[in-house]
Amino acid sequence: MTKVCVDSSGNRVPVELRFLRPDDVPTVRQLCKEWFPIAYPNTWYEDITSNPRFYALAATLHVQIVGLIVAEIKQQLKCNVEDQGLLSKQFSKLTPVAYILTLGVVKEYRRNGIATLLLDNLIDHLTNTAKDTKAVYLHVLTTNIVAIRFYEKRQFRKHLCLPLYYYIDGEGWKDGYSYVLYINGGQPPWILIYPFLFRMISFKLLPFKNFLIFLNASSLITYLPFTMSLETLIRGNGLRDSCKD
Ligand SMILES: CC(C)(COP(=O)(O)OP(=O)(O)OC[C@H]1O[C@@H](n2cnc3c(N)ncnc32)[C@H](O)[C@@H]1OP(=O)(O)O)[C@@H](O)C(=O)NCCC(=O)NCCS
Repeated sequence: MTKVCVDSSGNRVPVELRFLRPDDVPTVRQLCKEWFPIAYPNTWYEDITSNPRFYALAATLHVQIVGLIVAEIKQQLKCNVEDQGLLSKQFSKLTPVAYILTLGVVKEYRRNGIATLLLDNLIDHLTNTAKDTKAVYLHVLTTNIVAIRFYEKRQFRKHLCLPLYYYIDGEGWKDGYSYVLYINGGQPPWILIYPFLFRMISFKLLPFKNFLIFLNASSLITYLPFTMSLETLIRGNGLRDSCKD
């Protein structure tokens, strides 16, 4: 799959896609250091460039890596606890979902459609080859407006607010969101008066991060059955809009 892009000398050259390989570790480490305020261990770089369980693609221009996407398909029950309520209860906990670990493009090549090309390729793989995968999701800092715009343009929807989710060196704890795109017939969970409840919980109990994360879609349904009587059963898109102010 190729796409044409204007390089730094103004020439139109093809962007090509290929899988990451072990000798990419130094480049990938350098790029992630530039893009993300979070440090990953060396083993993580070795893993994503060599372990076939990752769908790890590089976009290259004149053989130089200008963008990459890394995703992992796993069963819902193998996800972090805060991500185990992505799908409606009709899907078993063994249902596969895809987690985007990283997506980035070299600064001077942004707004050329390279991230779109990488994401499209991943989604093509999930809809044509890994067809039992029912959702694609990711975590993002609430302050990363560019990435949020990018994912929202691609129809990803906010699923959860994750207060104090990231630890950034020199800055402390920062909030995150999870975003999700349902594919291959995947459905979000049924939500009970979510916006109201979650807003209340978010503001009153902000310091209790683990407790908050535990209160995902399925646990609210389990622990607050009395809400049924309020007849506010709605079909929702996770905790959409619950954290917007
Ligand atoms: C987010 C990122 C991957 C986007 O890469 P990109 O190659 O520039 O994205 P694309 O060119 O495919 O953009 C597709 C759409 O996303 C939106 N978008 C991308 N960058 C944007 C920006 N700076 N401002 C507003 N919208 C933006 C636009 O809707 C854009 O479509 P358009 O160009 O037709 O308006 C890139 O900015 C990046 O690498 N950021 C740093 C790393 C990062 O934060 N990764 C995400 C981690 S969750």
